Parts: sequence; C-alpha cells; structure tokens
Amino acid sequence: MKAIVLAGTRGIGKSVANALTEICDEVVAPGRSILDTSDLANVKDFAKGNPLADVLVLNTGGPPAMPFDSITEEDWVKYFNQLFLSFMLLLKEIKINDNGYVFLISSFNIKEPADNLILSNSYRIASWSVLKSLSKRDLKRNVTYLNIAPGPTQTDRLKELAQKDGKTLEEVAANLPTKRISDPDEIGKFVKSIVEHKIKAINGVSINFDMGLSNSIL
Ligand SMILES: NC(=O)c1ccc[n+]([C@@H]2O[C@H](COP(=O)([O-])OP(=O)(O)OC[C@H]3O[C@@H](n4cnc5c(N)ncnc54)[C@H](OP(=O)(O)O)[C@@H]3O)[C@@H](O)[C@H]2O)c1
Repeated sequence: MKAIVLAGTRGIGKSVANALTEICDEVVAPGRSILDTSDLANVKDFAKGNPLADVLVLNTGGPPAMPFDSITEEDWVKYFNQLFLSFMLLLKEIKINDNGYVFLISSFNIKEPADNLILSNSYRIASWSVLKSLSKRDLKRNVTYLNIAPGPTQTDRLKELAQKDGKTLEEVAANLPTKRISDPDEIGKFVKSIVEHKIKAINGVSINFDMGLSNSIL
C-alpha cells in the first residue's frame, strides 16, 4: 500500500505520515522543498513521479492571518494555487486505487469562519466541496473522502499564529475552556485507524479535531 502525505515534514502532516508508516509499504511525505503547493509546475512534476496511490493526504502550509482589507490580489492568487488549484491538479493526475482513501487537512474554521482567516476559510471550503462531489463519483470504486478539520493543534503553525498575537502556546491553552491544545498525533492515529481497519461507512463527511470548541451541531 502506498500513501502520499503532502506537507509531511512537520506538524499534522508529519504525525499522519509517521502513523501511516506503521501500516503502509511506502509513505511519500514531502516538505515544501520537494513539493511547494503554491508552485504549479512543481505540483505537476510531483504528480508525474507519483501517478498512483492508495492513500492521499492533501495538506499544505496555512495562509497568513489577515483581515479582508489587507489581502492583496497577489495573496488571493498565491493561496488559490497553494490551498486549492494544486489539490485539484493532484486529484486529476494521481489515480487513487480502488478501495483507497483521500483525506483533506483543512480547519474547523470552514464551519465557523474566523474574520482574520479568510484566505484559509474560503479556499478550504472550496476544496472540500469538490472532494464531496468526488466522493459521490467514486462510490462504485469504494474510494473514501474525509475532511479532517483541526482546531488549535500543537504545531509550529499555531505557535506562529499565537506569536503574531503576542501570545505563547501556554497562554493560548490557558484561554481555552479545555486548558489544553490538541495533539497532532491524535489525527495521525485516526487516519491510520480508518485505513488499517478498512472503515468505509464514514465517507464524504467533515470531522472536527477541536476538542469540542465548535458551536455547530452538524
Ligand atoms: N495547527 C493548528 O492549530 C491548525 C488549525 C487548523 C488548521 N490547520 C491547518 O493544518 C495544516 C497543517 O498545519 P500544521 O499546524 O501541521 O503546520 P506546521 O506544523 O507549521 O507544518 C507546516 C507543514 O506544511 C509544509 N508547507 C508549508 N508551506 C508549504 C507549501 N507552500 N507547500 C507545501 N508544503 C508546505 C511545511 O513543510 P516544511 O517543513 O518544508 O516547511 C510543513 O510540513 C495547515 O494548512 C494549517 O493551516 C492547523
């Protein structure tokens, strides 16, 4: 079984790649220096070298936090490529074998958009909308599509977002009702468990990894 985990060098991607290594024969887990999803030529080259997979985890670096009025046209284009178009090109070029799995790493903000994470909310919901359609297209081939929607998770990304607000991760945790930040390894264990146990009844749905912070009931 072959797995491809994009942005697999740190944080959530690394946790998922490490967990899948326990059950897959091959795990390809490139960082930005091998596959930069904002660089479409790089994306196409990567797909040529990796035309088949049993498990594909669509993940990349998160966009900067900024209010709508500060987002430039260049920002919109860069993150359109990084968070959306690259994933579409990869889904067109990489064949997912029958009985396979596609996971999108998005954000819990897709259900409750945050004002300063507009680049993130918008393109992630667009990606998930396409994946939902593909989950219907691929029912006969038994390919499963799941949207992993993390809340605050203990990674460099959260550290950087906290620093921008002048906070440490300890201060972020102290402000959460749980007083704890999610462990990215829990996402890794979940993905591994779904694949290892051939879970097929959960398909085309979003699963929050936010320790219950969201208000939405669906
Ligand atoms: N952590 C959270 O609290 C949280 C919450 C909601 C959503 N998310 C989202 O989950 C995803 C993963 O976040 P994380 O917390 O695991 O981040 P992280 O720990 O900062 O790791 C970022 C990963 O993305 C890679 N990367 C960065 N820019 C890239 C690019 N242009 N193309 C391809 N790969 C790139 C990095 O590769 P290098 O090692 O080569 O730099 C690294 O492997 C992000 O989209 C993030 O916005 C995170």
